[in-house]
Amino acid sequence: MTQPSTDLFKDKAQDWDSRPVPAQISAGVGAALRARVALSPELRVMDFGAGTGLVCAHVAPHVATVHAVDISAAMLAQLAAKPELQGKVVVHCQDILARPLDQQVDLIISAMAMHHVEDTDRMLRAFAAHLAPGGKVALADLDTEPGTFHPPDAVGVFHAGFDRARLGQQLAAAGFTAIEFATATQVDKDDRRYDIFLVTATKA
Ligand SMILES: C[S@@+](CC[C@H](N)C(=O)[O-])C[C@H]1O[C@@H](n2cnc3c(N)ncnc32)[C@H](O)[C@@H]1O
Repeated sequence: MTQPSTDLFKDKAQDWDSRPVPAQISAGVGAALRARVALSPELRVMDFGAGTGLVCAHVAPHVATVHAVDISAAMLAQLAAKPELQGKVVVHCQDILARPLDQQVDLIISAMAMHHVEDTDRMLRAFAAHLAPGGKVALADLDTEPGTFHPPDAVGVFHAGFDRARLGQQLAAAGFTAIEFATATQVDKDDRRYDIFLVTATKA
């Protein structure tokens, strides 16, 4: 995919951190990440679709550096303004599917961004290309849902969650092994409960 000409999160960025749903999801995903992924002071991490840095904040204190990648300048502006992330997080406002970073990382994390990417096979291949040998992914998103999580007229939403078996096959096809799914958290929105998975996998 190419980078959209408009920033689809421009109107949401200002109050993103005070919204209950992102706050609840990022707390659950952050806890699941710390429980299931070994973080260490030498790790170079990429947060794909980092947004305002809600999940970065859980990981950054425990690793060497986090490359916060997003195509929304407005979301990244919120992240860059956070004093606790200064010096630890490098911001990249670019579509890494079209223009990769010029460096590799040891771990790629992502929360609630994959459903905004139309071509997930291409995205997973891009993740593999950005990982050093033995590198890992830890990716969180909605399990398959009835299409009610976003408003019906939402732009830039390409997947009503993900089927774990299908995503596992896609990860394997992109060159990943040791693929493990867990339920990271659940979130209540508009009288419905949604499951959020965390899948971890290693670049073969
Ligand atoms: C629902 S928000 C989640 C933000 C953050 N991860 C969190 O949990 O609060 C999705 C984010 O993915 C970003 N995004 C969408 N498509 C992307 C792409 N192709 N590359 C990088 N980021 C993308 C959006 O701009 C947005 O900031």
